[in-house]
Amino acid sequence: MNKALIQKIKTVYQKIFKTVPLMIFSPGRINIIGEHTDYNDGFVFPAAVNKGIVAAIGKSDSKESTAFAIDKNEKVTFSLSSLKPSAEGSWANYVFGVVAEIQNRSKTIGDFNIAFGGDIPPGAGMSSSAALENSVVFGLNELFDLGLTKEDMILISQKAEHNYVGVKCGIMDQYASMFGIKDNALLLDCRTVESKPYKMDFKDHELILINTNVKHSLSDSAYNDRRSVCESISELLKVRALRDATEYDLEGIKDKVTPENYQKAIYVIQENNRVIAASKAMKAGDLKTLGALIYGSHEGLQHQYKVSCEELDFLVDQAKLNTHILGARMMGGGFGGCTINLLAKTETESFKTFISEAYKYKFNKACSIYSVELSNGTHIIQ
Ligand code: GLA
Repeated sequence: MNKALIQKIKTVYQKIFKTVPLMIFSPGRINIIGEHTDYNDGFVFPAAVNKGIVAAIGKSDSKESTAFAIDKNEKVTFSLSSLKPSAEGSWANYVFGVVAEIQNRSKTIGDFNIAFGGDIPPGAGMSSSAALENSVVFGLNELFDLGLTKEDMILISQKAEHNYVGVKCGIMDQYASMFGIKDNALLLDCRTVESKPYKMDFKDHELILINTNVKHSLSDSAYNDRRSVCESISELLKVRALRDATEYDLEGIKDKVTPENYQKAIYVIQENNRVIAASKAMKAGDLKTLGALIYGSHEGLQHQYKVSCEELDFLVDQAKLNTHILGARMMGGGFGGCTINLLAKTETESFKTFISEAYKYKFNKACSIYSVELSNGTHIIQ
């Protein structure tokens, strides 16, 4: 964990609010495989990481609450009794949304102050937003003794995103951030919202993330659009969600959907199967198969589900040229953010140098490269 970041957040909080805060770390996440399957009641394979949001939170004895985004140097003051969404795109909506959803559950909180910062760049596809939502709900639950379970808390975080941020996200990000287990990835069934931990030992291989440092602006509307396509196809198929459908079922309604939407539904069904296959490969220590499934996932996201972009495709294409890289794919919602790469440790340094130069040459822009450790979920820190 980032000790300097924790110290900074604590010091800033104490300077402004003059009290000793409760400190919380809430991690971002990676996802080994299983993209856009969560809101189809399917399977995903994420893990919490050692990067995320650090929040300092405490009760306020004034008649108002304050949230301070330290990295942006932006402060908002608000009243708990008259909450409404802030401007689109504002970080304040993650805070307001969580407060509003707690109130919707008839839980009473008092005024509070929160200051936070993080070490994952927004837009990296590593869920800094879920990390922030979870830190707020976790902190408020502690401060005001709300008696919420972790399951309640992630549903509150998810609803905040639906109703205040406007993204109809699934449950993967909030779940992984809250329930993460050190050194493990979680095979999560998004219908039952139950997971099974898998110890991630890649032996002489490792995972690295490469951030394109782009986030194309249509990502939120495209996300909601994909979700509604999936829901309308489920309706046509008369199933609860695409998780319940097979490619054979889909054949039966082929003439009722556009070829583009047909491909999207096939992608979801295939990706769901890839997640199960990947968890089996991981268990068997078969990294080659795991890698091939990861490449397969990108292929589907690029050509069938169509949520990739030129920068992500370039990084994956370059990875494919290197035989020491077993798998690479875009990670998260798409249209920017990171790729996740499974590569031989002996190759890491030279690939980092190569890809940084190649990316710069192609896009006249730097990519960023991260190594991550798999970490525990949202928790109190000293
Ligand atoms: C975003 C959403 C998640 C999930 C992914 C795609 O991260 O928040 O719920 O749908 O995209 O897998």
